[in-house]
Amino acid sequence: MLVFRTCSEMQVWRASLDHATRVAFVPTMGYLHEGHLSLLREARRRGDRLVLSIFVNPTQFGPNEDLARYPRDEAGDLAKASECGVDVAFCPTDPRELYPQGTNTWVEVQGLDRHLCGASRPGHFRGVCTVVAKLWGLVRPDVALFGEKDFQQLAILRRMHADLFLGGEVVGMPIVREPDGLAMSSRNANLSPEARAQALAISRWLAAVRQRFEAGEREATALLGDPAAALAPGRVDYASLVDADDLQPVTEVAKPALCAVAAFFGGVRLIDNTVLRP
Ligand code: PAJ
Repeated sequence: MLVFRTCSEMQVWRASLDHATRVAFVPTMGYLHEGHLSLLREARRRGDRLVLSIFVNPTQFGPNEDLARYPRDEAGDLAKASECGVDVAFCPTDPRELYPQGTNTWVEVQGLDRHLCGASRPGHFRGVCTVVAKLWGLVRPDVALFGEKDFQQLAILRRMHADLFLGGEVVGMPIVREPDGLAMSSRNANLSPEARAQALAISRWLAAVRQRFEAGEREATALLGDPAAALAPGRVDYASLVDADDLQPVTEVAKPALCAVAAFFGGVRLIDNTVLRP
């Protein structure tokens, strides 16, 4: 497995491949868990070469967010990556590598970021789109894989990919959960044992919403119930039902809808979701 620290190493390697060689790409911020590894394994099947990027992208964190305490374990990540058959781990350690002239060029997808995480984390998706556009230009993947755990991110990146004619293909992958239901996340490492136990309320609440839906309920307020009570003592950031395509709020589920939630447990912000398909 090759480990590259600079954009030029990445570009030189990419340019050395012939046209027939399919490149699969999985961008991450590291601290790899089974969710990331599921993307890598599927990517391994879909490409002749597999590129993983590990970069904690500063531009997608707000000033009061957890950039400084985002968990990191590069040695552990590289061991896991190698087991998954990664050919190239692109790990720029210095943010200036990806932002050599600072941050004058931004990629922003408007509209899809109006609600959910876009509303509570202003500028977050602008940072995500900007870094993924840069990575796309360096790796020039034939296929890139993203998780549905970050459903809004995936929807926004699909739109960016189409609107900028980036080439290749975007593939979405299902949410990987812990055996007890908690969606896997690098941020779970920051949960105290107490907060970890309380955070189970998220997947329990989503399962309850799904149960009401499967029992025939279609009305949003009845489906959502009382999220603040269901997630206590977690603090709800949002708990919403939106159209699964345009991510605008719905009052009733007549076509596929996304039930999405963000909540703080012991100061750690967790997100999760489920899609309801009538
Ligand atoms: P990160 O949170 O490291 O996630 C990297 C990829 O793994 C994303 O596509 C995410 O949706 C996926 N993923 C995370 N947890 C998952 C789970 N439990 N099941 C399935 N997939 C999961 O998302 C980012 O990094 C960044 O925003 C990035 C796209 C790399 C841009 O900086």
